Amino acid sequence: MIIIDKYIGAVPASKEKEKMREYKIAVIPGDGIGIEVMNEGLKILNKASEILGDVKFSFDNFEWGCEYYLKTGRMMDEDGLDRLKKYDAILLGAVGFPGVPDHISLRDLLLKIRQGFDQYINYRPVKLLEHVECPLKNKEPKDIDILFIRENIEGEYAGAGGILNEGHESEMAVQTSVFTRKNTDRVMRFAFEEAKKRNKFNKVTSITKSNALNYSMVFWDKIFAEVGKDYPEIETNANHVDAASMFLIQKPETYDVVVGSNLFGDILTDLGATLQGGLGFAAGANLNPEKKYPSMFEPVHGSAPDIAGKGLANPLAMIWTVVLMLDFLEENKLSEMIFSAFKKILKDKTKLTADLGGSSKTHEVGDYICDYLEK
Ligand SMILES: NC(=O)c1ccc[n+]([C@@H]2O[C@H](COP(=O)([O-])OP(=O)(O)OC[C@H]3O[C@@H](n4cnc5c(N)ncnc54)[C@H](O)[C@@H]3O)[C@@H](O)[C@H]2O)c1
Repeated sequence: MIIIDKYIGAVPASKEKEKMREYKIAVIPGDGIGIEVMNEGLKILNKASEILGDVKFSFDNFEWGCEYYLKTGRMMDEDGLDRLKKYDAILLGAVGFPGVPDHISLRDLLLKIRQGFDQYINYRPVKLLEHVECPLKNKEPKDIDILFIRENIEGEYAGAGGILNEGHESEMAVQTSVFTRKNTDRVMRFAFEEAKKRNKFNKVTSITKSNALNYSMVFWDKIFAEVGKDYPEIETNANHVDAASMFLIQKPETYDVVVGSNLFGDILTDLGATLQGGLGFAAGANLNPEKKYPSMFEPVHGSAPDIAGKGLANPLAMIWTVVLMLDFLEENKLSEMIFSAFKKILKDKTKLTADLGGSSKTHEVGDYICDYLEK
């Protein structure tokens, strides 16, 4: 922000140009509503950067996804990661298409990028905004403000396992969770650092299941306790995942930062999405915090084949995801501009899509936010 402010005002045009910040973004709209919501995310990003004037984005589109798989037998090109490496960030809509098994779309595109680029943090804010209806009675925005940090490259989604004796009576499947000290430690540390930054209750809750998972989750608990010792100012708490799914409904206001494994985080953040008004609001980021590789920003929702192509998709999760990308790129002014216009639209239900009780089409929501940006 300071850098931006410094160059606004009486600076010669040539100097301004010199200070123009440029970002190359790889865009993977994917399938179904992924394509529709991506259009709105890019529309708003273009509009806001045009208004601000000192930051520019260039976009390269990658047609990877399930339809690409049906044509080519691949979810992404073989040299996909090499090609993506040169970008400042990746924006992804959603993948999934009837006829393509979900484990292929997830593993051959999303997990390939998350794991290949060491995006070990999945960052998901669950925040109820003003004017948004919460399905829980008597809960207000001050009660629902949780940051989920989900381990993102190993755990239950490590892909370790196999199927033996396929087609025989003795057929069996094994899927092994993988928790390494290095990765578990850095995920926990990230969660503690975020709790410090947020300064809400200075509290981190770990999601576990160490009563039943006597190796992986006992290890998880041990690392949590070890890392916690380095943050004496942060309160620590642990919930078994079953209890957490109850407490998040009963008393969401008691949570600040929550850290969970890949599977537990995946499940609880859909519950979280419901607390904040639905999947249409749930934004997410796959982060490589060291910025050695590009990070990938994608809404939590899928390709929603039931509403795809009808203009019914709520683009707000995608737009919030763009805000997360701008925060990560430290383009704070642009991020604040977009988020402030985003919040304004919530006051008028008619301007929202049907899932939020409105009557607007996906592209109209984007247009309304652009209008607010111009004002
Ligand atoms: N990150 C991803 O790309 C991702 C995530 C989840 C699911 N998927 C895939 O998406 C496909 C559909 O999965 P699903 O039905 O379980 O989950 P989904 O998120 O696509 O849809 C769940 C429900 O929420 C609604 N919904 C989702 N996003 C919405 C939006 N922006 N606006 C309005 N309504 C919205 C849908 O209409 C549907 O009724 C599957 O192929 C699945 O594998 C992909």
